[in-house]
Amino acid sequence: MPEHDPERAAPAWLTDGSTTDEVLGLLKTGKEAEVFIVERRTLDGEHAALLAHKRYRPTKVGKGEIEGLGFTRSRTFTNDAVYHEGRRLRYSRDQRAVERMTDYGKRLLAERWPGQELDTLRQAHDAGVTVPFPVEFTGDGMLMQLIGDAGGAAPRLVNARLGAAELAGAYEQLLEELSALTRGGLVHADLSPFNVLWWEGRLWLIDFPQAVDLVNNPHGFDLLHHDVVTMCTWFARRGVDTDGEEVFASLLADAF
Ligand SMILES: Nc1ncnc2c1ncn2[C@@H]1O[C@H](COP(=O)(O)OP(=O)(O)OP(=O)(O)O)[C@@H](O)[C@H]1O
Ligand SMILES: [Mg+2]
Repeated sequence: MPEHDPERAAPAWLTDGSTTDEVLGLLKTGKEAEVFIVERRTLDGEHAALLAHKRYRPTKVGKGEIEGLGFTRSRTFTNDAVYHEGRRLRYSRDQRAVERMTDYGKRLLAERWPGQELDTLRQAHDAGVTVPFPVEFTGDGMLMQLIGDAGGAAPRLVNARLGAAELAGAYEQLLEELSALTRGGLVHADLSPFNVLWWEGRLWLIDFPQAVDLVNNPHGFDLLHHDVVTMCTWFARRGVDTDGEEVFASLLADAF
């Protein structure tokens, strides 16, 4: 199935500049971001693709401005220090501000957030994990492959209503994805059936802004353990024979 080959990178025409974008509509509003469906076409009409534009709501805008920017509601910023340990900032002054969570430090994090997810998505994609292919940074977020087609976006695993055989297959895929991610030195850190899509018989991992480095983040192992147990528990409740602790141990053994 070449159309959805997970190894596939963004086709070159997508970013060569001679294209036009049309926003087809809002796909989802989440806690911090909104996802829009965008159709990008070449000016000569040769190629077209559906993309997902994930836009983080700005933290510092005046009353009424948020709607003007095309968002439906504003976001709140929480202290996500756990996720940011192990991601060092270039300047030590900035690093200290983030560690102390001063107002300046929070602003730094909020501003870095959109670019960070694209970087992580690239890393995961390069590591061979099945993720939407990254397209480009957009200032407020990023463009990536839309998982789905003109008939609609892919359902999340929680809503996908898999039969027993599909569940077993999905679980095997999960092990492969986790293994590729871990060998790539990444922990998703918010993995759940809500952040996994099911499309044409494959699992697709999404929603990476809080991902951390397995080794450099002091909580890397705990966050991986949490991801693994969350997913294995979900599969176990649906009759799949799995043991989260065993999976966790073998992922670590595999990674080192
Ligand atoms: N590339 C994509 N292709 C198809 N659907 C997507 C894609 N990216 C995101 N979505 C849809 O948008 C929803 C929100 O995206 P995501 O989980 O990345 O953002 P979020 O702000 O963390 O949302 P939430 O707070 O709901 O977790 C996803 O649950 C999924 O349904
Ligand atoms: Mg999500």
